Amino acid sequence: MNSSILPIRPHFAAKASGVDLRIKLSSTDVANIEAAMDRYGVLVFDDQRISDEEQLAFTKNFGEIENAQGGNITKEHERRLQHGMIDVSNLDQSGRPYDRNDRRRMFNLGNRLWHSDSSYRAVPAKYSLLSARTVTSHGGNTEFADMRAAYDALDEDMKALVEDLICEHSLLYSRGSMGFTELSDGERAMFRPVRQRLVRTHPVTGRKSLFLSSHIGTIVGWQIPEARDFIRELIEHATQREFVYAHVWKQYDFVMWDNRQTMHRVRRFDESLPRDMRRTTVAGTTVTADQVTNVA
Ligand SMILES: [Fe+2]
Repeated sequence: MNSSILPIRPHFAAKASGVDLRIKLSSTDVANIEAAMDRYGVLVFDDQRISDEEQLAFTKNFGEIENAQGGNITKEHERRLQHGMIDVSNLDQSGRPYDRNDRRRMFNLGNRLWHSDSSYRAVPAKYSLLSARTVTSHGGNTEFADMRAAYDALDEDMKALVEDLICEHSLLYSRGSMGFTELSDGERAMFRPVRQRLVRTHPVTGRKSLFLSSHIGTIVGWQIPEARDFIRELIEHATQREFVYAHVWKQYDFVMWDNRQTMHRVRRFDESLPRDMRRTTVAGTTVTADQVTNVA
């Protein structure tokens, strides 16, 4: 691979050129991409006309494909894409944009809140990889926030305060914050909260970052209003423009990010038009906090 990697911001997000993601990578290529991910957190490739099979094969270079079960309200018979592919389009099975009031659309609006993918899983995701198959001409940017820089910018008192805090994450909380509260008993059970450290350390670089997400509903040992106020303040801090890279999508862009050191959100776009975005997710390998099993 005759590739180059150039930073987009001095320390955050980079553009990779001279790479064809459809071709099997050597172990050196994979190591180079991993190293760029460790360093920049977000990696942008353009003009990648990739199939679902090729995207899945490329994703497997970096670990296991995450089991998507429990991450959405879309039912098995409503799937548009094969297993392993996460459908973050606005399309139903027939390829048409969802009706405005479609329940799946309401649920997916939660992707416009700042979050880290799968932070609601006991073992949260490593990487997400997003392929833009069809884009709209305006809107729909994905914004990424650098959680290492956000941590580094905290003062010493704040660093001491957050160091050992444990948060509870759930899709119930992120969707609930948007007023999406009508869930079946099965969905509620599926979205049972999990625990995550608020400060996590990157397994390769050793850098600390804030593990923030709109999936956070409370902090263990805190009253909920105080916890939510505190988390809101931290998210405001962490998503100041100086920590954010906004990606403006072109068709066939392919962007991968490290959920262990970034947050992201998608912005509004014209939902009467098709926007076909297909994600794959590399599973994480470890919990960040001990889980509590309910015995009552
Ligand atoms: Fe996401």
